[in-house]
Amino acid sequence: MTKASAVNEEAILLTSLNSISSSNLNFTIVDEAVVISWHQAPDTLEFRHSYSDTQLLKRIRQPGQALVKACNNKQHSIKTLLDLTGGWGIDSFILAHHGLRVTMLEQNELVFNVCAHSLKCARSINSTSASAKRIESIHTSSLDFLLGLEDSTSFDCIYLDPMFPDHK
Ligand SMILES: C[S@@+](CC[C@H](N)C(=O)[O-])C[C@H]1O[C@@H](n2cnc3c(N)ncnc32)[C@H](O)[C@@H]1O
Repeated sequence: MTKASAVNEEAILLTSLNSISSSNLNFTIVDEAVVISWHQAPDTLEFRHSYSDTQLLKRIRQPGQALVKACNNKQHSIKTLLDLTGGWGIDSFILAHHGLRVTMLEQNELVFNVCAHSLKCARSINSTSASAKRIESIHTSSLDFLLGLEDSTSFDCIYLDPMFPDHK
């Protein structure tokens, strides 16, 4: 991709993120990361989304992770996984790093667009490329996706990490 088309793609992404978010949120792209800032005086919060984040890469490489163990069996015969609640794609990325081919579904447009950008960046970086290329991200409701599945399509494992309402 040329530098001009990359800049153009980033501009399109930022325009789309700003159009679907509240006015308190501001989006920028710094290197390969999408930075989301939330401001309500006097507070400002900043969240950085990138699959080449150092803390994430450290976490991914830790051996014996519960998530990785839970999504496989002793024979390691689980090869494909459907993540019905993709979110920021952290769990999908960890599982893809450990060799699974992941189909990641996310219904929220903003979250999906941020992840899609981060995935594209990760595919072009040596240290994250192989893992990122094992993930297909789809902007859809999981229910619609499941209802539209053809009989011939199958996954070895289905992963769900839902959001629960606050406890009283
Ligand atoms: C707790 S988060 C998942 C976090 C994710 N495991 C990660 O590692 O970043 C749950 C996500 O599921 C998404 N979600 C909830 N219901 C969904 C549905 N029916 N279809 C697709 N995505 C859904 C929400 O928008 C939210 O982003």
